[in-house]
Amino acid sequence: MASTIRNGARVLVTGARSGLGRAFAAALAAEGLRVTGTTRGDAAAFPEGVEPLHLNASADGVEVFVKENAALLDEVEILVNNAGSGVFGPLCAVGPEALRVQMESLALAPLRLAQRVFEPMRARGGGSIVNVSSLAAEFPIPFMAPYNAAKAALSQGTRSLMLEARGTGVRVIDLQPGDYNTGFNAAMERAREGGDVRCARVWGMVERHLRAGPPPEAAAAVLLKALRRGRSRTVRCGGWMQVCGAPLARRFFGDAILRRAIARYYRLDA
Ligand SMILES: NC(=O)c1ccc[n+]([C@@H]2O[C@H](COP(=O)([O-])OP(=O)(O)OC[C@H]3O[C@@H](n4cnc5c(N)ncnc54)[C@H](OP(=O)(O)O)[C@@H]3O)[C@@H](O)[C@H]2O)c1
Repeated sequence: MASTIRNGARVLVTGARSGLGRAFAAALAAEGLRVTGTTRGDAAAFPEGVEPLHLNASADGVEVFVKENAALLDEVEILVNNAGSGVFGPLCAVGPEALRVQMESLALAPLRLAQRVFEPMRARGGGSIVNVSSLAAEFPIPFMAPYNAAKAALSQGTRSLMLEARGTGVRVIDLQPGDYNTGFNAAMERAREGGDVRCARVWGMVERHLRAGPPPEAAAAVLLKALRRGRSRTVRCGGWMQVCGAPLARRFFGDAILRRAIARYYRLDA
């Protein structure tokens, strides 16, 4: 199948002001593609050559975006659904508003945008939809239940779309990053109530892992490679253990063993 990295192709990257989205947008713009990126905030800090648009990835916000940007969405050849943030803390301490925001921004909004661009792509016989889920979709991080749940929903929705897209020329990629050194944790909402020593310990580990992760530009290189390959697939990226070790563990061990291993890794029984 042909690559969608074609000079002048229209690209939409959500959450392009910082972190992975910024690196994705900058890398695609550097390839000569016409990149539009979204932010809820200040477009002044946008990467060079990336045209800014406003998007709040809530259920209502995505509908406004879809309505106001019909012409762009008809033309998009590569959609990178990247925008997202996390909430950390015990499930019972996460308020209903934070729970709603996680589900809407991480699962509903990206699937809505994928749905919107799919028909025009199918009519043209080509295009790429990249949904940035997470390794957490398969290996849940303790005290991040809403995040893990929303990413798992996005990942499964993406895999379903891969099946639907067969024979249409549209490529669908479930991009599952491990840890990358971005501002993700700094932007994370923390539900402090009810947190115990285990919660504090896991937070410390989550922080250390993120800081030790590769820079976002490394994830952008993986994205370009996946787009060039031009095939629908799940793409894992990050450190060696996350890219190779985790899928091997998933293949050979059942759920109960993996759950025990995760609990041990995060010392949840100590
Ligand atoms: N870093 C990692 O290790 C890692 C691992 C696995 C998955 N991921 C996923 O990768 C994606 C990018 O994360 P990152 O690490 O690059 O974090 P980041 O630096 O905090 O960037 C997140 C981006 O998403 C946008 N965003 C967040 N919530 C939004 C909302 N409700 N509506 C619209 N835009 C929103 C932000 O845009 P504005 O603030 O400009 O609006 C920001 O540009 C996320 O989906 C994250 O879950 C990251």
